[in-house]
Amino acid sequence: MAERKEKFYITTPIYYTNGLPHIGHTYTTIVADILRRYKKMRGYDVVMTTGTDEHGVNVERAAKKAGIPESEFVARMADVWRALWDDLGLTADEFVRTTDLQHVRTVQWLFRLFKENGYVYKGHYTGQYCIYDNAYVNDAKPGDPCPDCGRPTETVTEENYFFRLSAFQKPLLDFYKKFPQFIQPETRRNEIISFVEGGLKDLSITRTSLRWGIPVPGEEPHVFYVWFDALTAYLTAVGGPEFEKRGMWPADVHLIGKDIIRFHTVYWPAFLMAAMLPLPKQVWAHGWFLMDAAKMSKSKGNVVLPRPIVNMLGMDALRYFLLREVVFGQDGNFSYDALVTRYNSDLANGLGNLASRTAALLEKNFAGTVPKPGTHLPQDDALAKEAQNAIGEVLERYDKFEFARALETIWSVIASADKYLTTEQPWALGNSPDEESRKATILWTTAELLRIVTALAHPVLPESTAKVWLMLGQTTPVGTTELDGLRWGQLAPGVTLGKFQALFPRVEKNEAIERIEAMANEELNPTPAAPAPSATAHTAAGTAPTTAGPQEKIGIEDFSKVEMRVGQVKTAERIVGADKLLKLTVDIGSEVRQICAGIAQYYQPESLIGQKVVVVVNLAPRKLRGVESNGMIVAASVGPEGRPVLAGFHEDVEVGARLK
Ligand code: MSP
Repeated sequence: MAERKEKFYITTPIYYTNGLPHIGHTYTTIVADILRRYKKMRGYDVVMTTGTDEHGVNVERAAKKAGIPESEFVARMADVWRALWDDLGLTADEFVRTTDLQHVRTVQWLFRLFKENGYVYKGHYTGQYCIYDNAYVNDAKPGDPCPDCGRPTETVTEENYFFRLSAFQKPLLDFYKKFPQFIQPETRRNEIISFVEGGLKDLSITRTSLRWGIPVPGEEPHVFYVWFDALTAYLTAVGGPEFEKRGMWPADVHLIGKDIIRFHTVYWPAFLMAAMLPLPKQVWAHGWFLMDAAKMSKSKGNVVLPRPIVNMLGMDALRYFLLREVVFGQDGNFSYDALVTRYNSDLANGLGNLASRTAALLEKNFAGTVPKPGTHLPQDDALAKEAQNAIGEVLERYDKFEFARALETIWSVIASADKYLTTEQPWALGNSPDEESRKATILWTTAELLRIVTALAHPVLPESTAKVWLMLGQTTPVGTTELDGLRWGQLAPGVTLGKFQALFPRVEKNEAIERIEAMANEELNPTPAAPAPSATAHTAAGTAPTTAGPQEKIGIEDFSKVEMRVGQVKTAERIVGADKLLKLTVDIGSEVRQICAGIAQYYQPESLIGQKVVVVVNLAPRKLRGVESNGMIVAASVGPEGRPVLAGFHEDVEVGARLK
């Protein structure tokens, strides 16, 4: 009988359905996907799971606002999340929705185990509750804000079932001591240990104040507390009460963001201890991606969306950037500028350039087959040694979740190969037998190095490495390469090379950023009648349809949602690096606003000062090229090129007057 492979079970958090996915959530799922690919290449039987967290008061409120039943609302939102992961090639093995029947069964079963083992009792609780984080805030007084998100807490009194969390203080501390690798990174571990040492209060795990939740059997109107419900999804994904059959539990790693570490390293292991179930081996908490030092949120107008980036630069570029730019575990700033810079320097000029150079040289000199190397010179051996050493180093770094460092090692090997080609100059060699043999050695060495870095980079860059692999004439998919068997010298001479497909075409930075931002703005604020503007312009002209066509009519109530006022331009200046944008400050009567307008190619900044303009004042703020724009200047879009002409008045009008 074939020996069963060792299993590896990875989870992402299950995402809230009352929000929309952004780059922060995408980051967690990308890391899970990278690990999934990596562990498969190390011979593991891997399962990766994700899903949607669909209960709670937030969903109840969002569904009400949308005017649809909760079940319909969450079904739509689950589709949104699932579609995003599919589009980005992040396909989990299991997708749990907390409204699935199998999940409901698992939650009820786990609660029954708590009861049987004497870890729950009925009581009353009054406290301050944060509805956004779905958590009571210990020791908060009415009116206090939530310490995590800063939003006001609400006073809640209710009858609940309490979980005897206090009984697990010592068992948890013993567990952290016995398994120091359980909480990663190290700094987070100390934080949790001192929290638990400070004492644990019993936790209410049912609610009567909430309707949209999993019912506690025989105890209606009690429903389960959303975090108890949500954490249990990790068990649901691999079999629920019948988890033993699948053989995947316990999880090998729960990947999470740092904001939800307490739930995963205190509550969750305590729940499992109470049910006498095996505990997860590790919880890895990564940092946040911030925009201007703040966590992203739609209301702040600072969310970064994954799709526009992927449309412009490709999936691999996004994956590479997120993993290379920030040390896993720490916070990092997200900027389009840094993204495009890295794309051009590391991907287009780095891996992309080495692959296209190698493909072209092999095609030209050896008619598209792998040559047989001749005698090695010391410089060939030095390169071979560097690539061979990189294998062990990269695997070690991946194992420690040091993704940035793993990529650093791979890219330093790429840089050495570039240097090698530049010094050896195979293109300058002639056709004598000696020179032919030298050429063969140089090009075989380069191709072999490319094969090794391609296999090593595959977990992070699945799409582009698959292309290089084909070019190198490899017939089995790169993702099935066994990294443990990867060695220098395995590239067989005589193999026919495949066709080369360009990997990362260079992009012009400003243009790329403008296009990404335009797509993001369109996704966040879709304009139903008009196609997405080709250039970002926070002016009405940028999105107004230029040709009259059959258009849906709107009622006056729709029109009255748009608040337009007379504004007067106070200052106007160009924005460095954004050819089309001007940064204006505009007095709208009640305040002076900063607004960006896509008119720089048609208006001199000085000529605008003092001009009266029409401003849409109730638009959500947006960031254009990193500059906040709080409102929109109205302009006509004239001619085929859409020249903006600012709307104005024929007589003097008061600043702040409303347009109707
Ligand atoms: N539903 C809970 C998780 C339950 S798991 C049993 C939840 N959902 S969430 O949608 O709000 O967040 C999911 C994950 O996305 C968290 O790990 C969170 O840290 C991560 N991120 C959300 N914004 C982020 C950034 N800006 N940067 C990086 N990750 C962040 O919490």
